[in-house]
Amino acid sequence: MKKILVTGGAGYIGTHTCIELIEAGYEVVVVDNLCNASKEGLKRVEEIVNVEIPFYRVDVRDKTGLIEVFKQHKFDAVIHFAGLKAVGESVEKPIEYYDTNVGGSFILAEVMRDFNCKTFVFSSSATVYGNPKTVPIKEDSPLSVTNPYGRSKLMIEEFLQDVFVADETWHIALLRYFNPIGAHKSGLIGEDPNGTPNNLIPYISQVAIGKLDKLSIFGGDYNTPDGTGVRDYIHVMDLAKGHVRALQALENKPQVLIVNLGTGNGYSVLDMVKAFEKASEKTVAYKITKRRAGDIAACYADPTYAIEILDWKAERELDKMCQDTWRWQSANPNGYPRHK
Ligand code: NAD
Ligand code: UD1
Repeated sequence: MKKILVTGGAGYIGTHTCIELIEAGYEVVVVDNLCNASKEGLKRVEEIVNVEIPFYRVDVRDKTGLIEVFKQHKFDAVIHFAGLKAVGESVEKPIEYYDTNVGGSFILAEVMRDFNCKTFVFSSSATVYGNPKTVPIKEDSPLSVTNPYGRSKLMIEEFLQDVFVADETWHIALLRYFNPIGAHKSGLIGEDPNGTPNNLIPYISQVAIGKLDKLSIFGGDYNTPDGTGVRDYIHVMDLAKGHVRALQALENKPQVLIVNLGTGNGYSVLDMVKAFEKASEKTVAYKITKRRAGDIAACYADPTYAIEILDWKAERELDKMCQDTWRWQSANPNGYPRHK
């Protein structure tokens, strides 16, 4: 059985990916410093899959700590989710963002090399396309970044490509996620943001549950069909499956694989409000306000390459994404119990 180290495996995408990995027959070990997660999420994953997951509370910047984990397990591959992800915060705390995201990836790659584990699946983001000139976005579209978070993702992508140039025995996947939403169908695990959510779906679901009054829609005058921003929302379980497929694709040969993980469908903010109202049978109050700095009109993937190279395609439709988000949110109105 192949053994996978999942860094950041206690977080939103990490917990869902652990389930897909275990269901696909992989053994999973998690490293997380719990700076944005609680142990409860992993406990619930164990409940869902009925498997114990070895967990190490280690920071990926802690080389000695990582070495200890690598001494105890022989890993076939690493999926690297651990990192900081809030765009606004990255502008205020660039040092912390570069240190954790870029510094953590350097240290992880170094330890992997030293233990001869050379399969690295990296969580990149569609943010590396900046303000795309055309949509849908293909993998060879121009790259540009406008904030430290995005730049940290692009720097890691470039770093890993340099690693491959120097040693072509690595197997590297740079997975560019579009907008992950939804939750496992059990409603036991889901996205649990700290404080007031920045992202649309966590915000809408907290309005629907009555924790927040009203959604502010950031801009009604974009050049989109209804004037509100358009994004490619992807169910987190489909995204998780994409990681399993990436691991399988990397087995074939050493390479750097760069793939978009999106659905190819663009939905506007108003589409999302309507879909969520339908799923939750609640009214989502909103007002249209000014644009959010740094936002773009439309961003959605061309998923053709993922279909071709990973034999992977997102399967769950928008209604399912909203139903699953709602199941998680209504069963856990305050997220996980906070014993971090
Ligand atoms: P998350 O915050 O839920 O998960 C990240 C996990 O990493 C958390 O459990 C956190 O405790 C852990 N972590 C952070 N810093 C760490 C460190 N120094 N050492 C060890 N663990 C650490 O976020 P997520 O949404 O699950 O995102 C996972 C990855 O995917 C991130 O790298 C993120 O940048 C990337 N990504 C996320 C999105 C999104 O919209 N959620 C989109 C594109 C890319
Ligand atoms: C954000 C990040 C991006 C990251 C992505 C992954 C910013 C500027 N960008 O993208 O780097 O890769 O998350 O999840 O934070 N919206 C509202 N009201 C709200 C919240 C959002 O109208 O309260 C709108 C936004 O203007 C946008 C859409 O909803 O049109 C989606 O926003 P969000 O969920 O924050 O994701 P992105 O902006 O696409």
